[in-house]
Amino acid sequence: FFTGIFKPNKPIPGTEFAGKIEEIGKNVSSFKVGDKVFGFDDSGSGSHAQYMTILKDKALTKIPSNITYEQAAASTEGAHYAYNFIKKVNLKSGQKFLVNGATGAIGSAAVQLLKYFGAYVTAVCNTKNMELVKSLGADKVIDYTKEDFTKDNQKYNFIFDTVGKSSFAKCKPLLQPGGVYISSDLGYMAQNVFLPLITPIIKPMIGNKKTVFPITTDIKGSILLIKKLIEQGKFKAVIDRRYPLEQIVE
Ligand SMILES: NC(=O)c1ccc[n+]([C@@H]2O[C@H](COP(=O)([O-])OP(=O)(O)OC[C@H]3O[C@@H](n4cnc5c(N)ncnc54)[C@H](OP(=O)(O)O)[C@@H]3O)[C@@H](O)[C@H]2O)c1
Repeated sequence: FFTGIFKPNKPIPGTEFAGKIEEIGKNVSSFKVGDKVFGFDDSGSGSHAQYMTILKDKALTKIPSNITYEQAAASTEGAHYAYNFIKKVNLKSGQKFLVNGATGAIGSAAVQLLKYFGAYVTAVCNTKNMELVKSLGADKVIDYTKEDFTKDNQKYNFIFDTVGKSSFAKCKPLLQPGGVYISSDLGYMAQNVFLPLITPIIKPMIGNKKTVFPITTDIKGSILLIKKLIEQGKFKAVIDRRYPLEQIVE
């Protein structure tokens, strides 16, 4: 219903973008022609195109001078989701966080943001990406092709599955009392949507452990934080593949 019943409401896909302003509306004073900007609109900005239009108050800002358009566009969506998920928990410096899927758009952003907020981060990834994940700041790396992280004997305050390859049931033994499981995926039979309603009620019976499934908000706030961190050299988008515009549909 939301995206169109008989055909897409927005025929041009694309949510994240980076580019140069070619024209502005007569009442726009916050940007000028020639400004390099980047941003993200999860309702669809039609950014998989050479030109797009966007309202000045949407989540866009000027690109930091130390990165390219390519890096800027790749810095937005995954980081916005990662930041929103982190914001929903009461993270204190030094607390232990496990990130499963630490090389994905959300996972690689989560590792960097968690280090920025002072967490101890264990990252789970493939053998080939272990050095990459360490370079993002992970304190400990688990290779999922060799080890099942749910068998790890370290206990965590938070487990963030950014790729939906685990479940609350499997991760619960790894959580400290009061620990929180977060997943960016719906999970088997959409359990990650229902468990946040049930676990707060039954948590005295399960060591005060619970799940959260946050609804994301305030994209502009995320973009401004990411911009600041890029300028400080504390955030870098991980880009593993590049596609020309002609191949975007595939
Ligand atoms: N991106 C978004 O904006 C967004 C928004 C909302 C929800 N989501 C959902 O969030 C999930 C992740 O999205 P994403 O965009 O971050 O994905 P992504 O960029 O495609 O990354 C997926 C990552 O999963 C890792 N992976 C694959 N198999 C794994 C396993 N068995 N154990 C641990 N890691 C494994 C891969 O890492 P290796 O290379 O190390 O194998 C890869 O880097 C998806 O379910 C997506 O639908 C995404």
